[in-house]
Amino acid sequence: MVYQLTSESALLTPVTVGATAAANRIFMAPLTRQRAQADGTPSDLQVEHYRQRAGAGLIITEATHVSATAGGAYLNTPGIHTDRHQQRWAEVAEAVHGEGGKIFVQIWHVGRVAHPLIPGGEHPVAPSAIAAEGSAHTPEGSKPLVTPRALETDEIAGIVDSFRTAARRAVDAGLDGVEIHAANGYLLHEFLGDDSNQRTDAYGGSPANRARIVVETVQAVVDEIGADRVGIRLSPGHQANGMNEADPVTVYQELLRTLADIPLAYVHLLIEPDDPTLATLRSEITSPVVINTGFVIESDFAQLESLVANGTADAVSVGRWFISNPDLVERLRTGVELTAPDQSTFYSPGAKGYTDYPTLVGQSA
Ligand SMILES: Cc1cc2nc3c(=O)[nH]c(=O)nc-3n(C[C@H](O)[C@H](O)[C@H](O)COP(=O)(O)O)c2cc1C
Repeated sequence: MVYQLTSESALLTPVTVGATAAANRIFMAPLTRQRAQADGTPSDLQVEHYRQRAGAGLIITEATHVSATAGGAYLNTPGIHTDRHQQRWAEVAEAVHGEGGKIFVQIWHVGRVAHPLIPGGEHPVAPSAIAAEGSAHTPEGSKPLVTPRALETDEIAGIVDSFRTAARRAVDAGLDGVEIHAANGYLLHEFLGDDSNQRTDAYGGSPANRARIVVETVQAVVDEIGADRVGIRLSPGHQANGMNEADPVTVYQELLRTLADIPLAYVHLLIEPDDPTLATLRSEITSPVVINTGFVIESDFAQLESLVANGTADAVSVGRWFISNPDLVERLRTGVELTAPDQSTFYSPGAKGYTDYPTLVGQSA
């Protein structure tokens, strides 16, 4: 595929998201690639992978667990809760900054998507003891997801605090900020969902109650590192990891209204542009808006351009085209053929399909 942005394209103009000045409005979406070391320490390959993609206006890293018990959904995903993790994230930050890029880490608790056969996933927890439909890729093959344990009310403060301490480590590592992962069927999304959250305490029931843990998490992280270094990702109605929200408007409206008083770096929505809820939710957001139109392999860059040109979004994020085009922004600027992503190497170990996609200068980046 070829797509050429005009030199006046809104996507090529700089944008400020909180404390971060991004050189353009084409952000790299968070992408789990399972290339971390077994203990969650980022690998040399990850340092190189992100360095190669520093031309994105902002890199949002793959989902990264906030504590030893927050991962366990997929093998070899990174963490940010030990000194070792933090040291290696500092190398990632340095590599990206050395190329003139900016980088936020996406912070994550997997909730009921954890599996006991995956390290860190021994004891899956969730708002309620309801299993997600789906399976986990364990070392013993594909296994159905298990029924999680419902968190006790007095455990929730500890979960919130693990996001705070992860955010502290991120900033201490020199990363530009964090994106709180409240999308795609993981723990925070599970609290928002009326199907996955059947609690009867202050964290379940009404939209305000279902949004409470997310608000508390945002507040704790904001108090720790400052609102201008904090983004949040939401996927209203997205049926990922067994989610099935009957009411994807009211709860997000409630959440966004509460967050409207906090000058966040950005709110990142995973939503189709023709989804009727977009306008409703967009009108509640006071911070810069990043939109990911989601899961269209022939990602329509004209549509992304118009989302920014017409003010619906301040920036867009692109996932799979960044997997296969480290210099995606440069290719769009110059109208050079894009390399198609190879799905078979999305989650495979090693450099193949990770750090060996070609760049315009003619070498493997
Ligand atoms: C291989 C892969 C890994 C992903 N990992 C994450 C992740 O860690 N966190 C997240 O919020 N979304 C994740 N997503 C969703 C992407 O951020 C993005 O929303 C999706 O790929 C649609 O955008 P695209 O059409 O530009 O690829 C992942 C998607 C893919 C294909």
